[in-house]
Amino acid sequence: MLSKIKSIFSLSKENLETNNKNNNQIPVKEEEYVPSAFEILKFNFQFLKIDYSSILYRYIYYIYDSYVRVITPFILLEVKNAIVENDFEKMKYQIVKYMLLKFILQILCFLDTKINYNQNQETEQQVQKSILENILSKDVQFFEDNKITQLADTLKQGSEYIANELSYGNIYQKFNLAITIISKMYFIYYLSPYLLINFLVTCFLFQIVMFLLFLKIEKLQEKKSKKNDVLDFVVDDILNNITVIKTFGTELKESSRIQNMILKSEEESKQINALQQMSYVLRSASFEIVNICLILQIFFQIGLSAPINQVAQSITDIFQANYYGFQLANQIIRIILNKPENYYLDGKKQAGKIMQLFKLQSGIPQDIYYDKKDESQFTGDIVFDNVSFKYPASKDSLAKINQKIQQEDKSIENNQQDQISSKQQDELEYSSDQDSDLSDQNLQKEDTKLLELNKQNSAFEREYVINNLSFKIKQGQYVAFVGKSGCGKSTIIKLLQRYYDTTSGSILFDNQNIRDCSIGKLRRSVGFVSQEPSLFDNDIEYNITYGSIDSDYTDEDIQKVCDMSGVSEFVFDKNRFPKGLKTLVGSKGMKLSGGQKQRIAIARALMKKPKILILDEATSSLDAESEHQVQQQIDKLAQQGDLTLIVVAHRLSTIAKSDKIFVLKHGEIKEEGTHAELLSKNGIYKKLVHYQINFQDKLKKQI
Ligand SMILES: Nc1ncnc2c1ncn2[C@@H]1O[C@H](COP(=O)(O)OP(=O)(O)OP(=O)(O)O)[C@@H](O)[C@H]1O
Ligand SMILES: [Mg+2]
Repeated sequence: MLSKIKSIFSLSKENLETNNKNNNQIPVKEEEYVPSAFEILKFNFQFLKIDYSSILYRYIYYIYDSYVRVITPFILLEVKNAIVENDFEKMKYQIVKYMLLKFILQILCFLDTKINYNQNQETEQQVQKSILENILSKDVQFFEDNKITQLADTLKQGSEYIANELSYGNIYQKFNLAITIISKMYFIYYLSPYLLINFLVTCFLFQIVMFLLFLKIEKLQEKKSKKNDVLDFVVDDILNNITVIKTFGTELKESSRIQNMILKSEEESKQINALQQMSYVLRSASFEIVNICLILQIFFQIGLSAPINQVAQSITDIFQANYYGFQLANQIIRIILNKPENYYLDGKKQAGKIMQLFKLQSGIPQDIYYDKKDESQFTGDIVFDNVSFKYPASKDSLAKINQKIQQEDKSIENNQQDQISSKQQDELEYSSDQDSDLSDQNLQKEDTKLLELNKQNSAFEREYVINNLSFKIKQGQYVAFVGKSGCGKSTIIKLLQRYYDTTSGSILFDNQNIRDCSIGKLRRSVGFVSQEPSLFDNDIEYNITYGSIDSDYTDEDIQKVCDMSGVSEFVFDKNRFPKGLKTLVGSKGMKLSGGQKQRIAIARALMKKPKILILDEATSSLDAESEHQVQQQIDKLAQQGDLTLIVVAHRLSTIAKSDKIFVLKHGEIKEEGTHAELLSKNGIYKKLVHYQINFQDKLKKQI
């Protein structure tokens, strides 16, 4: 038991330390981090827009309210005494006093609600904005390590929790509870100091017993929530791959897999319900026992000499005080052990996640507040100086989930050892624990595949993808990267845009190390079309003009980029696209073909008027004719002189006109030169070209 309490104490510390060590990842134990009430308060305070006049008013109201609460039982006692003494005047005076106090209280309450309602709403918006900005300010690595759906949950639930904690109603309730408890305690003390001591000791003793039960419930709940995490992960993955499932006809297989998982977490739910019922019975029994003890004590201490109605009134007050006392004891124990009630636990965990999110230093500082007035761009002189790179060790979501299962297994083993060593704990073990262990074994069996995958993934260290790479690109040059799949072409492009920092060596833009430059200027200078362009779920115009600040564009600008990128060819076809540029593209551009998406992405990149345009297999989804047309436009762009063009392509015909071609193999440059130079070298490039020509020849022959 002692070890359990120790582990509870060490929990939050341990998590904070883990957090400090991994400054670019949310630690795996994130769900277990439950910040203390004080930590949350301190953290939440930063979101509170302080309006001193309304706070001053609020506290005047609270203080007045507390005064009324403290004084009420005494007034009622006076009224009762007046009735006993038949003193009508005294009774009238006390009742009028009471009514007046309450009337003023109601007016203050009304005004307070009116003043603070707006502030509540503002706070909620402020919290959401801050959290969203914080998430957006993280670097690319962060989004690779964390599932987007989980981040969305954190944003929604966490901000709701924080806003609710800061809301006027919540602060009031807490203040209210504290004052009520203190005033009731004072009233009992007024009746008899011994009574108060006796009452507190009994309350706490019972609460400690109850707390042991809560610990067990909480453990089960944690187990259940981990299983639910696995379930969420699987459901998410299934929904994302729905077309694959349809193609392979595996709907039933997937649904029975999910059903099995639901059944397994149902076992925990049953145990939790049974334990909760037990705790309710225990709570009401202990409550009644304390009541009886107190009644006996009243009779022994004040009852024998006091009039009967005074004793009756005292008993009523004490019953009430007992009720609040139970709450007080419960709250104090929970605050001491940093174990909030289950009802609040989820919210606290969400707040904990957000607090960790705010503590996380983004690996690469993200300048999300670009200076709109600053339109400076790099000229396009780029140098890679002895660059080596391996992707940072990261915890993939699948590996993360598996690690959670392993942690859970370990905790079950520890639990079993604890059971042997502690008889006390045995009494609290629920009878169906064996069943739950069996279910864990089943879970393990079913997920062996996942665990095997985890073993492969658990060596989180990555291999070098780029090795001692050096090259120079001059302003206005048209360069191309070619090489086999997986040789590191896209990685070079990511490094160029500083999605990641180099492991060693440096990248210079205009002779400046990009680590020392504003990321805003860098991103402003680069237009990029990726292998798999993603579009916003909006219309085509929105997507094309996405990068243009403050709608600073004309219809002619749009027309021009549409013509250049080949968007015009389909978007202005009234039969297929009657709404033209206003056609909605669907989620992730699902309503468009691959080639159409690519062309819109090219238009979007051109619209930005970048100094450096990067196309990573941007024309690979286009048919030969469209590709030729877009290629002609790209060639024209390349001839403009001041645009630096960097192209990654598999189809070598598209890069034949480039000024320089880099041939890559395993992250190293093996050959470089113009198309003609490389052909004369008789090396890798020539082989690649021959392979493609042979292929085309075969096609011709077949025709
Ligand atoms: N985010 C990532 N995390 C870890 N490893 C990665 C990541 N992205 C790519 N890799 C690895 O880096 C290597 C190079 O990948 P890259 O995407 O640069 O290849 P590529 O030359 O663009 O290939 P392709 O022609 O198929 O697009 C691959 O072995 C890949 O597995
Ligand atoms: Mg690639």
